[in-house]
Amino acid sequence: MIQVITVDATAVNQIQAMAETSWPATYRGIISEAQIAYMMNLFYHPDALRRQIVELGHRFIMACDGEIPVGFAAYSPRTTPDDTTWRLHKIYIQPGQQGKGIGRHLVDYIAGQIIPLGATALELNVNRYNKAISFYEKLAFAITGEEDIDIGGGYFMNDYVMTKPLRPVSLN
Ligand SMILES: CC(C)(COP(=O)(O)OP(=O)(O)OC[C@H]1O[C@@H](n2cnc3c(N)ncnc32)[C@H](O)[C@@H]1OP(=O)(O)O)[C@@H](O)C(=O)NCCC(=O)NCCS
Repeated sequence: MIQVITVDATAVNQIQAMAETSWPATYRGIISEAQIAYMMNLFYHPDALRRQIVELGHRFIMACDGEIPVGFAAYSPRTTPDDTTWRLHKIYIQPGQQGKGIGRHLVDYIAGQIIPLGATALELNVNRYNKAISFYEKLAFAITGEEDIDIGGGYFMNDYVMTKPLRPVSLN
């Protein structure tokens, strides 16, 4: 059975290790090896992960099958006050564990956490060539924008923005 746990900055090495096995495999063939190395360092170096958790307030969760971590995700409110849209920053299921419902479980878990906090939508960026777009569409995300983001080093992220409306929990 899959359990979801919220982790703090003490888990950065574990998250980095999971990213090492899932992240390059996701983007190989979409972006260059040099850009993969650049982005891994930019987003998954333990110092970068610590900053996301401690300074930016990103909430990291891990899906575990017993003792074994099988995926992770990170989310946070947007920084603008009064904005009820939350951001899904990351969702990565370990390669041998994909297609078993764990990704859906993590998105449902996040929705369950943030709807009571007033969230009305969950938004994310996804590379325009990532097959995860079909996964998101299955989960009622729709493409709501397109962005080319300069991440330095001569590299860009060529993304769609996707948004999923969230329904308030019925009290009946
Ligand atoms: C994308 C990802 C998070 C989805 O998680 P998952 O656990 O593999 O997906 P699930 O098993 O929960 O799938 C949920 C539904 O989406 C569908 N789905 C999942 N991946 C799909 C794909 N690539 N294409 C089409 N449908 C897909 C499943 O068939 C399932 O549909 P169903 O409920 O009708 O059977 C996971 O595959 C992953 O980590 N991929 C690599 C990393 C990545 O691209 N992350 C997103 C970065 S923006």
